[in-house]
Amino acid sequence: MFRTFSCSRRSLLKKTFSVLTAVAILPLLPRRAFASEGKKALIVFYSWSGNTRALAGLIRQHLNADMTEVLPVTPYPSGYNDCVALAQKEKNENVFPALRPLSLDVSDYDVILVGSPNWWGTWAGPMRTFLRDNDFKGKTVLPFATHGGGGWQRMTADIASLCPGARIGEGLSVYGSDAARSSAQVERWLRRAELI
Ligand SMILES: Cc1cc2nc3c(=O)[nH]c(=O)nc-3n(C[C@H](O)[C@H](O)[C@H](O)COP(=O)(O)O)c2cc1C
Repeated sequence: MFRTFSCSRRSLLKKTFSVLTAVAILPLLPRRAFASEGKKALIVFYSWSGNTRALAGLIRQHLNADMTEVLPVTPYPSGYNDCVALAQKEKNENVFPALRPLSLDVSDYDVILVGSPNWWGTWAGPMRTFLRDNDFKGKTVLPFATHGGGGWQRMTADIASLCPGARIGEGLSVYGSDAARSSAQVERWLRRAELI
């Protein structure tokens, strides 16, 4: 009886010791998650009707990153048809709309997650300006987008030419009305990118 008790007590002590050792050592082990490598991430997005903002918010829930919204000096019309018409005109005439000053500086970050609605097959005007006017050389850029059925269309090709010298990672494109419920998709994407 005594033997049995002492044996099980020893094994209990052993188990407790192993658990305590694991708890003590775990934080010291090298982690693949980039946050522990001292890298800084920034989420920058433009959203006209809220879908891309919702997606950016989900990304922020999973990732320790700063976040900022790009705003044009002149807001786009609130009516859908007027907005579509202006966006088409700007795209055809290669207009880069002026932006309000950003509160954060891209040069302070290693990884920049850039989000936009798909407008006429490419990045919305304000994000085209943001991508053109900032230097992403040597940085990792992860695109994310919402769309109305077209998917990426020319967005992936266009971001490569707007951000010369950047490492463009795998992007995430979500159907606009699914954006607010794509948390699991966002998490899988961030894991594949080894950001979490
Ligand atoms: C001006 C404009 C142009 C659009 N062009 C496209 C397009 O070419 N392809 C597409 O799939 N969706 C297109 N859409 C739909 C948007 O990409 C989609 O609704 C998106 O989720 C909106 O994001 P937001 O709510 O963040 O503005 C367009 C919407 C607008 C307002």
